[in-house]
Amino acid sequence: MINKCLFPAAGYGTRFLPATKATPKEMLPILTKPLIQYGVEEAVEAGITTMAIVSGRGKRAIEDHFDISYELEHQIRGGSKEALLSEIRSLIEKCTFSYTRQIEMKGLGHAILTGETLIGNEPFAVILADDLCHNSGEGVLHQMKDVYEKYQCSVVAIEEVPMNETQKYGVIAGKLVDGTNDTYRVSDMVEKPDPKDAPSNLAIIGRYILTPDIFDILRNTKAGKGGEIQITDALLEQAKQGRVIAYKFKGKRFDCGSVDGFVEATNWFYDRIKS
Ligand code: G1P
Repeated sequence: MINKCLFPAAGYGTRFLPATKATPKEMLPILTKPLIQYGVEEAVEAGITTMAIVSGRGKRAIEDHFDISYELEHQIRGGSKEALLSEIRSLIEKCTFSYTRQIEMKGLGHAILTGETLIGNEPFAVILADDLCHNSGEGVLHQMKDVYEKYQCSVVAIEEVPMNETQKYGVIAGKLVDGTNDTYRVSDMVEKPDPKDAPSNLAIIGRYILTPDIFDILRNTKAGKGGEIQITDALLEQAKQGRVIAYKFKGKRFDCGSVDGFVEATNWFYDRIKS
C-alpha cells in the first residue's frame, strides 16, 4: 500500500523571477489554483491522504494554503464567494500535511532524502508539482499505484520527448515487459544526457513511486549532474537489480517549471472550463 506522498518544494524557482522572489513557485496558479494543490488533488485521487512536504526558507505560504484562514472564511461565509474555497476546504478535511525543511539545496535526491523523517520505512509516492498532469480517467499517480501493486518495486513515469530535449530530463533505457506496450523494466538511466549520449527518448517526468531502500542508497549517492545529488543516480542502483519499472502514463503533462509550459497549461485549462 502507498499511504504517503512526498512533495519536494524547496527549490527557488529562478525561472519565474521576479514572481518567485517572495512567493513559492509551487504557489503560482494555473487559473485560480496553485500548482501544488493540483498535485495534492492527484494524490487524493490515487487514494493517498498523507502529504509530506519538503519545504525551505520563504515557503510558508504553502503551509498557510493548506490551513484554515479564519478571518477570510468568516468574511465570505454565506456569500457567493464561499464556494470558491470548497475544493481546498475538502482537501484540508481529508488530508494531513507534515513539513520538514531542506536547509541546503543539494538536488532532488537530497530533497527526497530530507523527507525520510516524514516517510519512514514504507514505499511512497513523489510528486514534483511543476509537472502538472491531467487525465480524464484515472490520474497519473493512480495509474502508477496500480503498476506498483503488480511489480512491487520503484516506478517512474515516462513520456516520449523529442530527441533534442533529452538534456532536460532523466532518460531511461529498458525493455518492454512481455504482454504490455507501456511498461518497461529499466536497465539504465542517465540524468540530463546530451542527445548524442541519451539511451532513448523516454524521459522521466515528475512522478515516482519509491521503495524505502532508496533512502540508504541516497545516503551513499555522490553528487552527479550539476554537482547535485540526483534521484536518477540512486534509482540506477535499484535498476541494476531489475527493481525499477518505467510506465508510459495515460494523460497530458505540462512542464510548468518553464514559462512556455506554464502558459500552455493556463490556456489548456482555460479552454477546458470555457467549452
Ligand atoms: C528532475 C529530475 C529529472 C526529471 C525531471 C522531471 O529534474 O532530476 O530526472 O526528468 O525532474 O521534471 P528538474 O526538472 O528538477 O531539473
